[in-house]
Amino acid sequence: MIIGCPKEIKNNENRVALTPGGTLDLVRRGHTVLIQTGAGTNSGYTDAEYVESGAEVVADIETVYARAETIVKVKEPIEYEYKLVREGQLLFTYFHFASSRPLTEAMVRSKAICLAYETVTGPKNTLPLLVPMSEVAGRMAVQEGARYLEKPAGGRGILLGGVAGVPPARVLILGAGVVGTEAAKMAAGLRANVTVMDINLDRLRYLADTLPANVTLVFSNEYNIRRELPRTDLIIGAVLIPGAKAPHLITRQMLGEMRDGTVVIDVAVDQGGCIETCHPTTHEDPTYTIDGVIHYCVANMPGAVPFTSTLALTNATFPYLLQIADKGWERATAENEGLRAGLNVVRGEIVLPEVAEAFGMPVVS
Ligand SMILES: NC(=O)c1ccc[n+]([C@@H]2O[C@H](COP(=O)([O-])OP(=O)(O)OC[C@H]3O[C@@H](n4cnc5c(N)ncnc54)[C@H](O)[C@@H]3O)[C@@H](O)[C@H]2O)c1
Repeated sequence: MIIGCPKEIKNNENRVALTPGGTLDLVRRGHTVLIQTGAGTNSGYTDAEYVESGAEVVADIETVYARAETIVKVKEPIEYEYKLVREGQLLFTYFHFASSRPLTEAMVRSKAICLAYETVTGPKNTLPLLVPMSEVAGRMAVQEGARYLEKPAGGRGILLGGVAGVPPARVLILGAGVVGTEAAKMAAGLRANVTVMDINLDRLRYLADTLPANVTLVFSNEYNIRRELPRTDLIIGAVLIPGAKAPHLITRQMLGEMRDGTVVIDVAVDQGGCIETCHPTTHEDPTYTIDGVIHYCVANMPGAVPFTSTLALTNATFPYLLQIADKGWERATAENEGLRAGLNVVRGEIVLPEVAEAFGMPVVS
């Protein structure tokens, strides 16, 4: 099979969907790999390393799309790429179709096959291709929070872990899923005083047994959140109700109950955010302040640490890419139910009900 990996052209997207290591495995199995020149540069991989692994480096994105049977990417195609996608071509990438009608219509028109990372399922209905990026974002949230708590960055001027004789900062994490758990581990490791809230009691029980003693697990409701706000320094929003908009657990009016210089990192911004005053920001301009509260709401946090994120992502996606390359997408999805769940659009037809429902378009099962 001919597999093409273009350079990402979305703003500040530094990851690449295929490493030289993955290239070597594909080429050894008899596949052809086309890499657009410079595709791996921002993740630390040179064209020469891909060539050494057996890839063919091509000069432009047009050639990658024109020659490849399968395109492997990180983010959804942007408008410039719509016309490059060919009928019958397989695209394996994050799409998040429900958030973009133009993208959905363009992919339907293209008659390509769109296999979305975010809807591939694993055992017990897990989302194995979303988890690694949640792990990165959860860990990063604490790093970013610590930075913005510093006075020169506009924060209260408090060190997360305190020092001997001085109490640590208080961190409130809303949501105890993948993002919330990774954030809790990092904040606890830095010796902050951490409170994690969730509505899933089994999850709280499990974390109570596994997280260190400086993490308190509390049931999430408005009363408990309100009690924490006046004494919290850093809030991390990590709530998810699959397929739905995130609930606003902190309203605009509640900002008034927080101290000036409190920092909110709303990781759930991609689902609308769990703080009412959240709106998406970029790595170029990540924060804004409302009522003295610093908001950090970057929608693609992992894009800032591509050396880590590219490996975390490709470790998870590569086994699926191998199946697609070896068997072709039709057999691979027929034989692997979890991979089949990734099919969103097939040859001009929407096959995932959630995408069709989002735009009132017909679904074909
Ligand atoms: N900004 C970014 O760059 C970035 C990166 C990765 C993930 N995310 C987003 O972060 C969010 C969290 O992802 P995740 O992988 O941790 O999801 P997850 O499903 O693992 O965890 C979500 C948790 O929220 C809990 N929850 C639901 N309603 C709640 C409520 N009212 N109060 C408290 N908790 C509640 C759930 O019980 C669950 O434990 C998602 O929106 C995801 O898309 C953003």
